[in-house]
Formats: sequence, C-alpha cells, structure tokens
Amino acid sequence: QDKNFQVAIDGPASAGKSTIAKILAKQFHYVYVDTGAMYRAVTLAVKEANIAYDDGDAITALLPKIKISFKPGEPVQKVFLNGEEVTNAIRSNEVTNNVSQVAAYGPVREYLVALQRQIAQEDNVIMDGRDIGTTVLPQAQVKIYLIASVAERAQRRFKENQAKGMNPDLDTLKKEIEERDYKDSHRAISPLTQAEDAIVVDTTGKGIETVVAEIAQIIENHQK
Ligand code: CDP
Ligand code: CDP
Repeated sequence: QDKNFQVAIDGPASAGKSTIAKILAKQFHYVYVDTGAMYRAVTLAVKEANIAYDDGDAITALLPKIKISFKPGEPVQKVFLNGEEVTNAIRSNEVTNNVSQVAAYGPVREYLVALQRQIAQEDNVIMDGRDIGTTVLPQAQVKIYLIASVAERAQRRFKENQAKGMNPDLDTLKKEIEERDYKDSHRAISPLTQAEDAIVVDTTGKGIETVVAEIAQIIENHQK
C-alpha cells in the first residue's frame, strides 16, 4: 500500500461525528483525529492568554506558542495543550460558544490544517471535522457527510449536558446549535459544506450502532 487510507467525516455540531468516528477507528485500527478538539484547544489558549476572541492579530501571534497533542484514553482521547491536559476544559460552554469565531481566522486554519495533514501522512486515519473532505484531505478514499435534524441534535446536546450534571434549556441549546451551524457554513475560508463526492448519512432517528454499521459497510466497499 503506497498511500494511507483516509476516511473523512464532516457535518454540523452533534451529528454524531466523533462518537461514530471513534468506534470505527477501533474497529478498523485507524488513528482517530478529532479536528474539532484542535480548534477548541486553540480557543482555550486564546482565553487563557486573555486575548479577545475578535483580536485576530493577537490570536495569530499566539499560534507559534500553541502545542497540541493527543494521547489514547477511555472513554475519550486525552487532549493536551502545551503539555497540560485540557480534555474537559475544551468542552466548556465558554469554549463551545466562541470556537466558531476563532476557527474562522485564516492563520488558525492554516496552522491546524498543516498539523492535520501531517498526522494523516503518518498513519491510516479517520478524521472528523467540518472541512476534512473538502480541504484537509481532498483525496480521502471515503468521505461521509453526517447530518441530523436540529431538533434531534439539540436533544442529544441536552442529554449530554444533563449527564454532566447541568440543568440545560432545550431552546437555548437549539439556538446555540443553529448559530454555530450558521457561522461554520458561512465563513469565508473552508466553510462547512458537503464535498461533491461525499456520501450523506442522515442519523436522525437512528441509533449509534445502525450508523456505525452503515458507514463500516461503505468503508469495506472502498477497501476492495
Ligand atoms: O463536537 P461539536 O460538534 O460541538 O464540534 P467540534 O467538532 O468539537 O468542533 C468545534 C468547532 O470547531 C466547530 O463548530 C467549528 O467552528 C470548528 N471546526 C472547524 O472549523 N473545522 C473543523 N475541521 C473542525 C471544527
Ligand atoms: O462530533 P459531533 O459533534 O458530530 O457529535 P458527538 O459529539 O459525537 O455527539 C453526538 C451525541 O449524540 C452523542 O451524545 C451520541 O451519544 C449521540 N448520538 C449519536 O452520536 N449518534 C446517533 N445515531 C444517536 C445519538
């Protein structure tokens, strides 16, 4: 095999990308790359440096000081920012509600896309995000565009927040998801869009196992 196998999974917030990608990575022995976690780690670094989320120049200047790494872990991969574990910190509401703004800056995207391509050169990968099939790995053998209705995605977020011991409001979560979808789909640089050659998988009303089986079949068909 002269080229690594690449599976790209893109789609809006809470479509199930990371949940499904993680399971498939185990099943096929691929390295799972959570690109959303990288944008979240940069957003956390911006916050910790007390830089305003709209200060593009200061954010750009901070990039060379940001080192992101992953370590295997259960139930989730551990994420490190400059050697410090930030696995939970990058999931805070503060980060969630500001990450789309930070992710819209060209220099941030260039920096992280280079890192993502480098990882994909070293191993077979299953990578999830917003622009993997369109920009990061346009040659990926398998491209999946994972979707679900806004109502269902808000409901999933609701359950996740409840499990974290929070007291979420469904309407607020729905608005936050719609707002992030809008920002991610309308930014100037590599917005969230379906790659022409992506296969759309709608997860509305489907359980995780059903979706995993559907995509596993698609991957197997492409490996032949
Ligand atoms: O898991 P969730 O759907 O909340 O989002 P995520 O995958 O962790 O990504 C967080 C944010 O990072 C997204 O809303 C995008 O603004 C940004 N992102 C991006 O711009 N490009 C990617 N390849 C991945 C994430
Ligand atoms: O990565 P992304 O933001 O696309 O979604 P996620 O973080 O994997 O979150 C999706 C949530 O919906 C998780 O709590 C899953 O347990 C749940 N879920 C799913 O991923 N897929 C389904 N078919 C049904 C539920």
